[in-house]
Amino acid sequence: MEVTNRYTTIKTHIDAAPKESDFELMTAPLVLSLEPGSADIIVKNLYVSIDPYQLNRMKTYSPTHTLSDYSLRITPAQAIEAYGVAKVVVSGNPEFEKGELVVGLIEWGEYSLIKSGGIISKLDPMGFPLSHHVGILGLTSGLTAYAGFFEICKPKKGEKVFVSAASGAVGNLVGQYAKLLGCYVVGCAGTKEKVALLKEKLGFDDAFNYKEENDLKSTLKRYFPEGIDIYYDNVGGEMQEAAVANMNRFGRVAVCGVISEYTDDGKRAAPDMLDIVYRRIRIQGFLAADHINVYADFMSTTCDHIRSGKILALEDISDGVESIPSAFVGLFRGHNIGKKIVRIAEE
Ligand SMILES: NC(=O)c1ccc[n+]([C@@H]2O[C@H](COP(=O)([O-])OP(=O)(O)OC[C@H]3O[C@@H](n4cnc5c(N)ncnc54)[C@H](OP(=O)(O)O)[C@@H]3O)[C@@H](O)[C@H]2O)c1
Repeated sequence: MEVTNRYTTIKTHIDAAPKESDFELMTAPLVLSLEPGSADIIVKNLYVSIDPYQLNRMKTYSPTHTLSDYSLRITPAQAIEAYGVAKVVVSGNPEFEKGELVVGLIEWGEYSLIKSGGIISKLDPMGFPLSHHVGILGLTSGLTAYAGFFEICKPKKGEKVFVSAASGAVGNLVGQYAKLLGCYVVGCAGTKEKVALLKEKLGFDDAFNYKEENDLKSTLKRYFPEGIDIYYDNVGGEMQEAAVANMNRFGRVAVCGVISEYTDDGKRAAPDMLDIVYRRIRIQGFLAADHINVYADFMSTTCDHIRSGKILALEDISDGVESIPSAFVGLFRGHNIGKKIVRIAEE
């Protein structure tokens, strides 16, 4: 049997803020069968993750292209690998059977051919919606928030925590984990609706709209008169500089991502080095993929919190492969609230 596979790709490399017109929907015939002896699998994609790091992959040049196997450069017209949940339609691999659910690296399209050795595993939904396995229980959001907060920040009860992009996929979870530990948590976000959500629904102690502030150093001084112990950085740039200027001695900064710098290469955080030295601040970047060792803890803790209603899964879902460009572009315009996911097909 042959199907028409529709997938989203880039027309050319993108070296500025992305626009929908930078993308195109391609179609290609796909035969739903494999050569005898092949250990590949073909899956029907159900939910795909929309993540900011993909923009760096789309650039003509980014140092990230050679620093991780997950951030290799994308060539125009090429199908774009992304984290997601899918269903096996053809399998040459004895580990997978037709009809089984899988989670891992699939593509921004309707079907994916996963070569033998691809990053994919069987998925037991454990009674949760499939979208949760892309977001709160997935690697690029849930594990990132959990590992970045607990492993990199080494938080203690009562510490003062600041989170940027706090209503986003990673940020909202960091804030919720920090509250459950007993920290004082302040988040920033780009609209008053997001700020209200953080305070009223997610239990943040306080939140502010960074777009309404003129002097971020004074803003953070106002929200943290006794200083910041932990800054979970999702944005980089001026916010990182302002947070470092307000850190307490032995403060920790987990640099998860620097989204404000992805669309503007000229914008780089330049925190005051004397602050870092004399306040003995530790600034550490990390990748979620390095923390698979805490995956089992992350899953059991997070599943328990979801079931007991102590943690909220915040998802922002669009439908259809054709909605991928607007979903992706929206990340850089602050359109998403919570984890941005595209539902390609119903189970
Ligand atoms: N290290 C890792 O392994 C890893 C894994 C996943 C993600 N990340 C990184 O973590 C960060 C958050 O990712 P996510 O998936 O949770 O995305 P997200 O926060 O759900 O979506 C992006 C959000 O960032 C904010 N934003 C966009 N442009 C901005 C700018 N110029 N300045 C300040 N805020 C801006 C917007 O919210 P506002 O309305 O608040 O502006 C937007 O909604 C990103 O930097 C990402 O690359 C790292």
